[in-house]
Amino acid sequence: MIRPIVKYGEHVLHLAAEPITTVTGEIGDLVRDMVETMYAAPGVGLAAPQVGVPLRVFVVDVSAGRSKDGLMTFINPEFVEREGLQLEEEGCLSVPGFAATVGRPARAVVKGLDLEGRERIVEGRGLLARAFQHEMDHLEGRVFVDRLHGIQRDLIVRRIRKLSRSGKW
Ligand code: NI
Repeated sequence: MIRPIVKYGEHVLHLAAEPITTVTGEIGDLVRDMVETMYAAPGVGLAAPQVGVPLRVFVVDVSAGRSKDGLMTFINPEFVEREGLQLEEEGCLSVPGFAATVGRPARAVVKGLDLEGRERIVEGRGLLARAFQHEMDHLEGRVFVDRLHGIQRDLIVRRIRKLSRSGKW
């Protein structure tokens, strides 16, 4: 089932998410819905707070469904390693219509559980490292806009507020 994606400004998106204590059937349903929602959007990653659920889980597929091994689920993820720096333009399904250049690690290794409760450690470089950091940020209540500074951030926040006031957000 495709779930509605919450947008910048909604409380749940700006809160640190809680760890998942048991991988129940409900969590399985949530993850399946997140995958469906991500592909439908379309996007290359989605974190649970983006569908209004403040739990520590995200899904990612930088191949956007083209590679059969592309889809990954991380429950209670943690960084194992992060290094380097890449600067690329980035957007977010919760901030539609906006993009900005964000500094991210060039390489990131993430560890977490999959839906079967098995530990999984994956090394990401380039776009995957960027996606890992972007989704991990969501679990801390951080959106890419929060990684921007000064006028660049103010401009986006102001435009969102304006859209919001006119009921277009
Ligand atoms: Ni996002």
